[in-house]
Amino acid sequence: MTAPLRRRPDRRYGMRMPALLDRHGRPLRNLRLSVTDRCNLRCQYCMPDDGYRWLPRGDVLSFEEIARLAAVFAALGVDELRLTGGEPLLRQDLPVLAGMLARVPGVRELAMTTNGVLLRESAGALRQAGLHRVTVSLDTLDADTFRRLSRRDDLARVLDGIAAARAAGFAGLKLDTVVIDGVNDHELPALLDYARGIGAELRFIEYMDVGGATRWSMDRVVSRARMLELLQARFGPIRALRRTDSAPAERFELGDGTVFGIIASVTQPFCATCDRSRLTADGMWFRCLYAEQGTDLRALLRGGAGDAELAGTIAELWHARDDRGAERRAHDPHRRPLLPQSQLRANPHLEMHKRGG
Ligand code: GTP
Ligand code: 5AD
Ligand code: SF4
Repeated sequence: MTAPLRRRPDRRYGMRMPALLDRHGRPLRNLRLSVTDRCNLRCQYCMPDDGYRWLPRGDVLSFEEIARLAAVFAALGVDELRLTGGEPLLRQDLPVLAGMLARVPGVRELAMTTNGVLLRESAGALRQAGLHRVTVSLDTLDADTFRRLSRRDDLARVLDGIAAARAAGFAGLKLDTVVIDGVNDHELPALLDYARGIGAELRFIEYMDVGGATRWSMDRVVSRARMLELLQARFGPIRALRRTDSAPAERFELGDGTVFGIIASVTQPFCATCDRSRLTADGMWFRCLYAEQGTDLRALLRGGAGDAELAGTIAELWHARDDRGAERRAHDPHRRPLLPQSQLRANPHLEMHKRGG
């Protein structure tokens, strides 16, 4: 059975387009494609402990399978794809996949979120293949802090990777910083200076209690309000810019015109406008970052389902979507890490590095 398509104005283009809406009227627009669950860093906020259960290789979708699913999603209204991981650049021949996805009809934007370690090697090929935008995670500019946070000694490679992305000509380069109390909260002005110097837009992210963040606690979260205080002390008055779309970042401007973002998923969740969903490397489709249940699209695909059947299933599930994971958690006065380690071991799909950041 196919869920009905309702019509509503598309605010981003100022014209009417059919959109598949969920129970809260949120369109299906943004699909995050995790292309591998492997990572070459071990960031505390995402993968703090050892003994992960990696996905069996045979379960990981082929490029053809990913591109086919992407086309089905695009036909249902998804116009923004983002490659994530784990670390997406660990997937062999990623530029080939980027080229296939860039050609999917309806895809307006193809982006990637990476830790940057391997970016120098592949930035040019990705750009040529048709990748539009790159976001690099950069939590610190201090080599010791980088080593403590990620358990690897790769800050110099990340900075090289960022330089390579600029040289390759990617427009709209973004840097993502997860801010953790006592770890990197003293570095906010330095990170913003760095981003300003290279013409990138920095987004500070509140430390989230997602699967994998087993050491999360509310007192390690640096709130949006606190971040603004710290930045104001150094840069003077900061102006909030008007929201233009459903992106998670609220944008701000310094007196000199430098623009940056804050993603306040903990203190100001953006569930009300969330148009995103996630496909894991082995084809599980999650409609919320915090969802415990996903849908096994690989089984359908490999079981011989045609595009119409896949589209019908996806549409029906999106239509029934009620998720507001971050908002629900914001109302919990005894908020603790989302899941204990034992549960993550039992169901590795609950890990953030399986779902893409
Ligand atoms: P652009 O603004 O288009 O560049 O995309 P984006 O903001 O989705 O990019 P990115 O992958 O860099 O996401 C930034 C961060 O926001 C992530 O790393 C997460 O910390 C957080 N985030 C991303 N998706 C979600 C989501 O679905 N829910 C919540 N609560 N937080 C999210
Ligand atoms: N809190 C906030 N963001 C997180 N990410 C991963 N874990 C967390 C967390 N606990 C995001 C970061 C990282 C990307 C891959 O995923 O932005 O850069
Ligand atoms: Fe969307 Fe779920 Fe994140 Fe809320 S918590 S913004 S509903 S993915």
